[in-house]
Amino acid sequence: MPFFIVKGDITKMNTDAIVNAANNTLLGGGGVDGAIHRAAGRELLEECKTLGGCETGQAKITKGYNLPAKYVIHTVGPIWRGGEQHEEELLSSCYRNSLRLAKEYKLESIAFPLISSGVYGYPKDKALNVAVHEIRAFLDEYDDDMTVYMVIFGSIGHAPAHSAELRHFISKNLAEPVFHTPKRRDTFPSIGTEEDEVDEETSDAVPLQSTYDDASEKASRPIGAAKCRFIPRQASLKAAHEAAKPVEKAEKNRSLSEMLKNLDMSFSEMLFKLIDEHGMTDAECYKAANLDRRHFSKIRSEKNYHPSKNTCIALCIALRLTFDEASALLRTAGYAFTRSSKSDVIIEFYIRNRIYDIDVINEALFDNDQMLLGA
Ligand code: APR
Repeated sequence: MPFFIVKGDITKMNTDAIVNAANNTLLGGGGVDGAIHRAAGRELLEECKTLGGCETGQAKITKGYNLPAKYVIHTVGPIWRGGEQHEEELLSSCYRNSLRLAKEYKLESIAFPLISSGVYGYPKDKALNVAVHEIRAFLDEYDDDMTVYMVIFGSIGHAPAHSAELRHFISKNLAEPVFHTPKRRDTFPSIGTEEDEVDEETSDAVPLQSTYDDASEKASRPIGAAKCRFIPRQASLKAAHEAAKPVEKAEKNRSLSEMLKNLDMSFSEMLFKLIDEHGMTDAECYKAANLDRRHFSKIRSEKNYHPSKNTCIALCIALRLTFDEASALLRTAGYAFTRSSKSDVIIEFYIRNRIYDIDVINEALFDNDQMLLGA
């Protein structure tokens, strides 16, 4: 179920399948197509010759030959002609048809390049928006144990959403690492502990301002994105904050002091209490946390299983906790947010601004070379 954006060379990915951004002949070319054929060897071309080409938006599968991946799924993206020639629908069907093939072959992992964003000229940020939206929609629809990777070769070439506000927040809050043997916890600038309780209302979250008017923000939303989990890159904090509005009611109803009182509860006891309180199913929770179903069932069933801090934070995001509630839940697992960790400060920024879309947070973590949330 998890989805990750990673940097690298797709020919090195040790996944069940890698996806090739091919052309209609399927007889090889430049870019990622050329790289895959070179790494796979001649036999790949021989098999491709038997396929009779491929329509734009469709997908066909071959073996991986000398690649670490067992299979190659070849799909043909649209050439970008300005966005008025159904490019978005054709690109969406590349991801959908490739994922369907992977599901048909019961694959457990698949890696995509950013289809059409090279030779075919599709603007990278729009191409990424389409990719994330389609991949998320597929993962939300099916409860398969499939991990999906988006492999970025070089940079995505644009700043993720909210990057100006995030940079400001990091510059204000990231503590220079102090190398000393901490004698007591309060000598270490950790946040979210009783001593330095931060009041949500006066938190130093970046003031929410809309950087785009609604119309332009709507225009950037992928067509048919009725339930677009991925906040479009042009989204402003204000728009994202609006999207999180309903959460406030749930937060108000939940007495934080009562939660903090139960600190003798184990992490999993408090976690499942919160899941029930939020009226969520396990599946809704682990999908929103970008967690694998099997991993989540370990937390549910193995009494002594101790989740990593990364997993605990991903679950705080899924539960849409306030920063203080997330700190309380982390503490039950023996962890704390600390301002000497850039990753923690980035996550604090999104929680304080009530932006709980894990793909948006992961894109910011990816952009800052930090470990992504989920697994
Ligand atoms: N690993 C991951 N991504 C890669 C790699 C690689 N080894 N090489 C290139 N890419 C990225 C590019 O940076 C780009 O973001 O893949 C994305 C797609 O670029 P192209 O390979 O140019 O594919 P596309 O834009 O879909 O154009 C397809 O190009 O190579 C020819 O035969 C292919 O005619 C077809 C056309």
